[in-house]
Amino acid sequence: MSKIKIHSDSNVMVVTVDNPPINAGSAEVRSGLLEAIRELESDGKLEAAVIIGGGTTFIAGSDIKEFSLPLAEPQLPTVIAAIENCSKPVVCALHGAALGGGFELALGCDARIALVGTLLGLPEVTLGIIPGAGGTQRLPRLVGVEKSIELICSGARIQADEALKLGIVNEVVQENLLAHALILARSMIGQKNRIRDISMPTGDADAILAASQKALKAGKNRPQVKEAIAMICNAQALPIDQALAVERESFQTLRVSIEAKALRHQFFAERKLFKALSSNDAQAQALEQIAVIGAGTMGSGIAMACLSAGYAVILLDQDELALHNGVKRVEQFYQSRLQSGRMSQGRVSELLQRFSFGSDWNVISAADLIIEAVFEDIDVKHEVFAKMDTHAKSSALLASNTSYLDIDAIAAKTSNPSRVLGLHFFSPAQVMKLIEIIRCKKTSPVALATGLSFAKRLGKLPIISANSFGFIGNRIYSAYRRQCEFMLEEGAYPEQIDAALEAYGFAMGPFAVADLSGLDIAWRMRKSQAASRDPGHRYVSIPDTLCLAGRLGRKVGAGYYRYPEDSKEKVLDPVVSEIIEAASKEKGIIRRPFNADEIVNRVLLTMINEVAHLLSEGVTTVADDCDIALVNGYGFPRWQGGPVFIARAKGQKLLDQELKQLAKVSGPGFLLANTDVLFI
Ligand code: NAI
Repeated sequence: MSKIKIHSDSNVMVVTVDNPPINAGSAEVRSGLLEAIRELESDGKLEAAVIIGGGTTFIAGSDIKEFSLPLAEPQLPTVIAAIENCSKPVVCALHGAALGGGFELALGCDARIALVGTLLGLPEVTLGIIPGAGGTQRLPRLVGVEKSIELICSGARIQADEALKLGIVNEVVQENLLAHALILARSMIGQKNRIRDISMPTGDADAILAASQKALKAGKNRPQVKEAIAMICNAQALPIDQALAVERESFQTLRVSIEAKALRHQFFAERKLFKALSSNDAQAQALEQIAVIGAGTMGSGIAMACLSAGYAVILLDQDELALHNGVKRVEQFYQSRLQSGRMSQGRVSELLQRFSFGSDWNVISAADLIIEAVFEDIDVKHEVFAKMDTHAKSSALLASNTSYLDIDAIAAKTSNPSRVLGLHFFSPAQVMKLIEIIRCKKTSPVALATGLSFAKRLGKLPIISANSFGFIGNRIYSAYRRQCEFMLEEGAYPEQIDAALEAYGFAMGPFAVADLSGLDIAWRMRKSQAASRDPGHRYVSIPDTLCLAGRLGRKVGAGYYRYPEDSKEKVLDPVVSEIIEAASKEKGIIRRPFNADEIVNRVLLTMINEVAHLLSEGVTTVADDCDIALVNGYGFPRWQGGPVFIARAKGQKLLDQELKQLAKVSGPGFLLANTDVLFI
């Protein structure tokens, strides 16, 4: 079956792309288009053509699977060249989305017409590449260098109306796209209107420099962003054919780079998540009203996430002041969206109308889902779940946002454990994409399916975890932090470790993170585990010593770093170095220098080892989910792919050798995992 359908409307050829669901620009689509253009040229009865998408969209992107292989002919630049070289005009009719190669194809045509609401964009940089079929040359001829840098380097999607204002599309219509496209095509008979023939607008050098700097900063200086800027600037510096050839070469080099592979890995891992979601057998329950118990940091954030997704939300707290503050946080969040122009007054009013709050438990009786986000204390959780159980209607689901507590134990004390699950959000809950869905022993398939579809509606990335200490993310993170503490004891300093990991791409190093979230949280946990800890295992006392010295982190002005009141910056504190050196001395460890590569490698190996444990224990069944968790919940650099990607790139033999070495330096208590689970 051809992916391209052709018919003629008297003297105009209508070329319909038929490659559901998103009309991805695959090899078959490209060869079908090329054939159609050849037929247009040779058929004397035809005088123009319209290219349009079948179904709900135009070409919403290229077939990303193809990027991992040698590209099949004909490649997109060949198709676009055929359109440009064809003596008859070709109009592109856009609806749904025209992204990536789809948008580049449209830029290769003589005119573009779009249905209102169509999204246009070149998101290639988000996949570690650049537009490779003329996007960096044709777009600047329409909108200039500065705007092209802004659009291409951010991968932004713009609406048809904005595209019209920018001169990217010739016309926007409310309905009857094909009919309007045919009129446009007929009006152009006998003419060509190629973007390549438009002379480059002269840009303002200072504005271009500023746009480049802004794009590099936002794009974390990644190679594809640098390349995109260079290519866009070539539109001014080089003749178009030369610039197109350079662009293609750059695209081909980036396409096979390890970073682009890592980004594709993340892309496919996320897509798999939603495939699993849609094939889930149990029917999700419909949810309208969500109750959130606890109006603290997490409760108020969860309330915002639910409100923004269209749910009616009730926020409950036993403490009047906490409730007041939580409600204020919610209201201020939407006020700031209004002020920044990201939300309209109408939208904010509508949202806040769905928001109610109180301290009377009777208000939760209408809720379809009740999410608990109270203090991390098992007795408090039991007490709160008992109240939830009493006041909730029988069909309501009960969820806990606990970070570490045993949800099976919490569920066991309720009248119907099958309706209990974990919904572990990350802070700030209204922003962070990750959510762990905790499947407890008795959680029903319907409760699980409902949790997944709820997370999807919130726009989150849901990964499923068994009920196990720290679930997936915190378990990997704890192992990572422990390994960093080992390195402190062996000779590294917090600032060195933080700097090495930040240079690798982590949003923040582990000690800066610890200072930010407060050292007391982990301290409390270590104290609660002290009795059951094996005294033979390696234990680093440095964090305890810091806590005992009152250095609980940023909130008190001191932790691993010092935070002077008159400065926003952290500063190094010789006291911390002394504490660290004393800890090494006490254990008889002779400190040695560390370099950044060793620090990063030990961290990555530790994460890989922990992922292998999680898989072997059945806490997760999908290795790639761990990469999603780290990137979306823990500041792991997306372009590095994640520990599973790195493990596979290394290969099992080398990995096992390195892990053995890691076990040796980590000392007693470090459990070497079986890595077979990563290579299935
Ligand atoms: P928080 O201390 O900011 O808020 C807890 C709220 O629960 C307070 O407003 C308190 O008044 C209320 N509360 C306590 N007992 C209550 C009761 N019996 N009835 C009604 N309300 C009650 O705590 P936070 O940080 O929001 O954490 C809440 C939960 O979320 C904890 O289980 C925590 O482990 C978990 N969590 C926290 C994350 C974080 O980064 N803060 C991230 C993910 C999960």
